[in-house]
This record gives sequence, C-alpha cells and structure tokens, in this order.
Amino acid sequence: MYHRTARVLEHVKLAERTFRVRLECPELAAAIRPGQFLMLRLPNTSDPLLGRPFALYDTVLDGGKPVAVDVVYLVVGKMTSRLVGVAAGESLQVWGPLGKPFLDVGTPDRLVLVAGGIGQTPFLAYARELLGTRGFGGDAPRARTKHVSLYYGVRNAGLAACVEDFRAAGVDVHLASDDGSIGTKGFVTQLLDSHGKVGPLVGCGPEPMLHALAKLAARWSVPCQVSLETPMACGVGICFSCVAKVKTPDGDDYKRVCVDGPCFDAAKLVWE
Ligand SMILES: Cc1cc2nc3c(=O)[nH]c(=O)nc-3n(C[C@H](O)[C@H](O)[C@H](O)COP(=O)(O)OP(=O)(O)OC[C@H]3O[C@@H](n4cnc5c(N)ncnc54)[C@H](O)[C@@H]3O)c2cc1C
Ligand code: FES
Repeated sequence: MYHRTARVLEHVKLAERTFRVRLECPELAAAIRPGQFLMLRLPNTSDPLLGRPFALYDTVLDGGKPVAVDVVYLVVGKMTSRLVGVAAGESLQVWGPLGKPFLDVGTPDRLVLVAGGIGQTPFLAYARELLGTRGFGGDAPRARTKHVSLYYGVRNAGLAACVEDFRAAGVDVHLASDDGSIGTKGFVTQLLDSHGKVGPLVGCGPEPMLHALAKLAARWSVPCQVSLETPMACGVGICFSCVAKVKTPDGDDYKRVCVDGPCFDAAKLVWE
C-alpha cells in the first residue's frame, strides 16, 4: 500500500454536485486495479479526522506509464463538501490500493454493468480492462469480452455524470431516471428487466438498488457481483465499522467490506 501527499493536477465539475479530481501518484496509479479503492484525506486539518473511500475511476498515462489517478465524487457531507474547495496545485493525502479487484467473470460474450447514483465510478476502468483497451496493475491489455453495457440510473438529468466517457470507451449506455428527465422513467433495474435476461451482472449503487439487482439475477439464474459503498473508518481491516452480513456453510457471518470486498457475490450476501 502506498501512502503519500499527492498534488491535485485537475479538479473539474462534471454534473450537479459531481466532480472529478486528478491526483499525481505514479506508484498508486501503476498498482491499482478496477474494483479497488483508495482513501482520501484533506491535509492540514483534523476535521474530518478520518479519510474517506473512493473508487478508482481511471488512471492517467504519460508516455504509456501510469502517472495519476482520477476519482469522481458526489458531494454528500463534511469531507466531500470541503474537497470541492481544493484547487489544482494543492494537495491531498491518499493511500491505496485498498480492497480487492472485481471478482473474475471469465470470458462472457457480454457483461452488463448496473449503476445507480454515483455507482458508475468503479466501472470506467473496469470496462476498459474487460474490453482490452487498457491494462491495470502492470498487466498488458487483454480482452475478456466483446460487449460491455452500462445501465445507469440517476434521480434526474442534472446528476448524470461520465456518460460520454463510457461511450468513448466503447460501452453501450442505457439511462434511466426517477423523473424521466433523462433516459427511461423509472428504476434502472426495471429498465434492465424490460430488456430481458442478460448476464453476468455487476452492480454498484445504493443498497435498495443492489438488492433489486440481486433478486433479478436470482430470477434469471445469472451470476451477479455487487460493489458495496459501505461507510468506512479505517479502510484497512482494523475497526470493523464496514461489515456486511454473508451466508457461509456454517451460517451467517460478517465480512469486512474494506479488505474482503468491496465486491461480493450478490447471492452470498444477506439482504435485510
Ligand atoms: C469502496 C467505496 C468506494 C466508493 N467510491 C465512491 C466514489 O467513487 N465516489 C463517491 O462519490 N463516493 C464513493 N463512495 C462513498 C463515499 O465514501 C462517501 O460518499 C463519503 O465517504 C462521504 O463522505 P463525507 O464526509 O462527504 O460525508 P459524511 O459527512 O461522512 O456523511 C454524510 C451523509 O452521507 C452518509 N454517508 C456517508 N457515506 C455513505 C455511504 N458510503 N453510503 C451511503 N451514505 C453514506 C452519512 O450517513 C451521512 O448521512 C465509496 C464508498 C466506498 C466504501
Ligand atoms: S473500515 Fe475499518 S475494518 Fe473496514
């Protein structure tokens, strides 16, 4: 794991309350894999004291070498509302890679990513990896599938972020919104259901959406993994603030999302 003070190279607004911050951290950019996350902390302040977890959105190459990581975030509370004020040239504390990469999906004809809210963020790097247009963690690019679809649901059009990045990466994008202001009106899982059985599925977003996705996957009998956005304190397995309940052969157990996840087989989670 790398821990450093990283310079902010770019900080841009993408959508309502949604920003992309680019951090200069070559070692982390070279090591991190899709599905893993990093912790960010504001320097020179103890408020908030703890770092916050964010997914890898993408790595940035210079002459073929990874030099920076991009994080896309939604402003929700104390840390993210202060993060907005950190300008290019200033710095953040960053540590990672944390957690495990996405679970192995084999080499399916098509893979379907399902995102709700800010849950699209782990999927751009993953789509590039799956389509073989980018290698991560020192691996050479290797295609695992020919088609990646993204089903992406937001509350309204103003919150839809990164759609053009996905299209430019060769992903076919289907949009849904609660108020019908972009894409199909309704929940993203309803849109997916209306298009008929597909799989494997990979989800990230609010828990009710992930639960609906897990039920759909069970009805279709297709593999489904979900990346959980559980609030975390330490991010490295010490505090047990992030546990998820899972089924095991010996009964229900708890797993730490930060070190055992954040990606889990949806069929093995206990949805409450
Ligand atoms: C593995 C992982 C990857 C993540 N990736 C991203 C990402 O790429 N982009 C992004 O915007 N966010 C991501 N998150 C969520 C992000 O960590 C939280 O939004 C962030 O910690 C909020 O910090 P804050 O200080 O602004 O809010 P706080 O002041 O800590 O909280 C504000 C409010 O939001 C609630 N809250 C805090 N964290 C969460 C959460 N995870 N889920 C639901 N409610 C929460 C609190 O209960 C509170 O009501 C990820 C979380 C995890 C675990
Ligand atoms: S956040 Fe501390 S154990 Fe997971």
